[in-house]
Amino acid sequence: MDPKRAAVITYGCQMNKYESERIAGILVGLGYEVSDDTRDADLILLNTCSIRDKAEQKVYSQLGTLKWLKRDNPDLLIGVCGCVAQQEGERILQRVPHADLVFGPQNIPKLPSLLAQAQARRHQLSDLADNPLWDEQLFPIQRAHPFQAWVTVMQGCDKFCTFCVVPYTRGREQSRPVAAIVQEVEALAEQGYQEVTLLGQNIDSYGKRSADGKDLADLLSTLYPIDGIKRLRFITSHPRDFTEKLMRTVGTLDKVCEYIHLPVQAGSNPILKRMHRGYTREEYLFKVEQLRTHVSDVAISTDMIVGFPGETDDDFAATLQLTESVEFDAMYLFKYSPRPGTRASAFDHQVSDAVKTERFQALLEVQEAIQLRRNRARVGRYEEVLVEGPSKKGSVQLTGRTRQNRPVNFIGHPSLTGSLVTVRIDKGGVHSLEGEVCTEGRERGGED
Ligand code: 5AD
Ligand code: SF4
Repeated sequence: MDPKRAAVITYGCQMNKYESERIAGILVGLGYEVSDDTRDADLILLNTCSIRDKAEQKVYSQLGTLKWLKRDNPDLLIGVCGCVAQQEGERILQRVPHADLVFGPQNIPKLPSLLAQAQARRHQLSDLADNPLWDEQLFPIQRAHPFQAWVTVMQGCDKFCTFCVVPYTRGREQSRPVAAIVQEVEALAEQGYQEVTLLGQNIDSYGKRSADGKDLADLLSTLYPIDGIKRLRFITSHPRDFTEKLMRTVGTLDKVCEYIHLPVQAGSNPILKRMHRGYTREEYLFKVEQLRTHVSDVAISTDMIVGFPGETDDDFAATLQLTESVEFDAMYLFKYSPRPGTRASAFDHQVSDAVKTERFQALLEVQEAIQLRRNRARVGRYEEVLVEGPSKKGSVQLTGRTRQNRPVNFIGHPSLTGSLVTVRIDKGGVHSLEGEVCTEGRERGGED
């Protein structure tokens, strides 16, 4: 008999990608072949994201297109998981009669029984319960990459920024016990993984309510001695919780890469206040200064929202000015989009789409000029690069990332994939660097 086929379609952030790897691990254990190809699938799971845009409509329209597949194959099971599933819940089952199953991110471990029930009963089913299952140690997982891995260390968020759905879709903060994380990372090291990125929506809050009192800095120190793991990263930081202790840890543990994602969201104090971010622009600038003191050659990236309700020309000018003065290494730039259930969606003075677009373009231009300048400043340096494989540009070109998370393209043999090499940087563009692999060992980050 042919194996059963499952298609897992993933939208959104790294957390969702990691959760799709967990879903795939469970499905492989149940005898499925897993891909993202919906043709001939026996099971289709949409792992959805609701952070921005018209996420719900997109999911409904995607589900609409799957109706025809179900007509051709009535045994096909269609499931929706992730943040839209958590937020829309039963509404999905009411609006989409051909959807079989809806479950939230916290209920992934229950997938085998949910699928068995869906198959046996052939009627719609949902599981959206708050279900912390953080005590489990190792779980099945089908990882997408053979030498870089994501490991979730905490989930949820207690901050309630007024624009954000995460506290509603992912629930309250929960940290995973240190022992479970250590076990997962040790298993990764044994399998030959070199780089581990710890994930959490609000990762600097790690351990806040845990019994052992270990915070993120302690966790990094605990993971540091694990042999085989060469690089540790963590995302996403919150300026309010980013402590000097953590900065010192990043600065002293050489396995922890000099790259921090520190979303600021806006440069104007009145907007930061209405966003409920819990810091002022001055406090943010101070953190950046402190970080640069403790971690030499640190790269800082950020998230920025333009067009938040009530954002005036002066507010936007403050955002431009903060961008110029920090000189971010990368920026994820978003137009504000009202999300259902969030406080800001009911605020007065929503900004028109035309103004949002104008501000988006203006900020992008400023940021791209900064990035070009900063990337060009790397020319002549020798950078440590983890080779990810052939670049999209052509088969002789390889691509990888520096410790500061900058993409680098260079000529090299595909057999270098998965190894750490030293690359001499020859050219800096807006989004990436170019260089040449050096055979002789050079100190990373050194000048020519
Ligand atoms: N509109 C625009 N951007 C948003 N983000 C989160 N919610 C919204 C929203 N409603 C952005 C923030 C966050 C990133 C993950 O997505 O910048 O840091
Ligand atoms: Fe959303 Fe704010 Fe929590 Fe980040 S800190 S997940 S933006 S509520």
